[in-house]
Amino acid sequence: MGQSPAHHRDWSHLSITMLERMEKTVTDAIYPATRKVSTRTLLFALLLSTVMMIMLYFRHSSEPASLGYVQHQVRFKGRVPLLPEEDPQFIYGDRIDAQLAHQPAGDLHSALIYQQIEDNAEQTMWLVEECPVKCMMTNMDAHITAAEALIFTPDFIDRIPLNRPPQQLWFLQLLESPVNTPTLVEFNGNINYTISYRWDADFVSPYGRYMAFPKPKVVWDESMSRKTKNVVWFVSHCLTANHRLEYAKKLGTYIDVEIFGECGQGKRSAAEMRQMLTNDFKFYLAFENSNCGDYVTEKFFENALRNDIVPIVMGAPKQDYLKIAPTNSFIHVDDYEDAEHLAQYLKYLSSNASAYNEYFAWKKLGRLEDSKLPCRICLFLQNPTHKVYEDVDFWWHGKKECMYAAEPPAPFIQ
Ligand SMILES: *[C@@H]1O[C@H](CO)[C@@H](O)[C@H](O)[C@H]1NC(C)=O
Ligand SMILES: *[C@@H]1O[C@H](CO)[C@@H](O)[C@H](O)[C@H]1NC(C)=O
Repeated sequence: MGQSPAHHRDWSHLSITMLERMEKTVTDAIYPATRKVSTRTLLFALLLSTVMMIMLYFRHSSEPASLGYVQHQVRFKGRVPLLPEEDPQFIYGDRIDAQLAHQPAGDLHSALIYQQIEDNAEQTMWLVEECPVKCMMTNMDAHITAAEALIFTPDFIDRIPLNRPPQQLWFLQLLESPVNTPTLVEFNGNINYTISYRWDADFVSPYGRYMAFPKPKVVWDESMSRKTKNVVWFVSHCLTANHRLEYAKKLGTYIDVEIFGECGQGKRSAAEMRQMLTNDFKFYLAFENSNCGDYVTEKFFENALRNDIVPIVMGAPKQDYLKIAPTNSFIHVDDYEDAEHLAQYLKYLSSNASAYNEYFAWKKLGRLEDSKLPCRICLFLQNPTHKVYEDVDFWWHGKKECMYAAEPPAPFIQ
């Protein structure tokens, strides 16, 4: 994400210019054309060279993997890639930092954005916080025509406005994997921008986002060893959870696996689940309902990482997890020949607290943050690039990046 060579180039370029300028000042101070060198000039030169050396030191010391939000403006001086077509190689990764650093030209105008949320939610308006733009969000149907932009998911099709104001921008938000998304042909030619966990979406909206601290924290909580039980899984759709259930049951023949939900020991409340994840169990089966590129959901970020439990993941390829997960924070089933080999490794971790705790060392280096989707959109709306998805259905469904058959979406903890 933040480690692309391009960032380094930008940053180095900046410091080189500054260094060159300083060097010139120093040279001028040491070798004045006509005057004799005064003590004051020498002292000044000495001070400047010290500053230069300090700057050189920092320029060559290794940068953290990803810098904090405060440094956006420095990193992205000049042009920033806002849309995927501006960065087809994903050098800027998910482009979230770039979009947040975007400084629109001209005066900022306030924006009104309609966002579809659950059908029976209270109709209300809210201000987008911590954003340079004054931006209002609304889910009030009365505002649909007046809104500058609409954000909706595919089920909005029944309520889609027939008389769309010509300037209005439509954002399609895709939360499920392609295998669990209905056809989108009815939206073809009408969508300006997409929002999804997938990196080729215009606004990447991951279920969680790891950001490195500018400097590692010294103190962190290493109390993970309080846990006494091994593997836990919460699953709601057991009949369709074919290979996942099979794998979990197989694993259960080698190590203790407790399954909760309809096909296990029954349902538990969200609070009970959180309690079990945080205090009792060492490993959580963060199995996704479909194995699709980039598709890593709240099972991983919220249920596991936020509750101090090591996720055992099955879903997207390991490469995709490595792109977005904190360093050494998960165990991917693909790394093990079969459930038996995985169980052997889990038993080892279970018996060695320091090896187990290494899975939480990332907490020293960074934390999970919000991707500030509304603010990114508010900034973008200041002067949006023209875009229309003539075939949004093919864009979403045509990539065939899913490897197994679908299972219905099953969020565990909302
Ligand atoms: C326990 O884990 C630590 C850290 O990974 C490792 O250095 C040590 O050798 C392990 N101990 C045993 C007995 O395997
Ligand atoms: C948004 O999409 C509509 C419908 O295709 C199109 O007419 C309009 O020009 C698009 N606007 C922008 C800014 O791309």
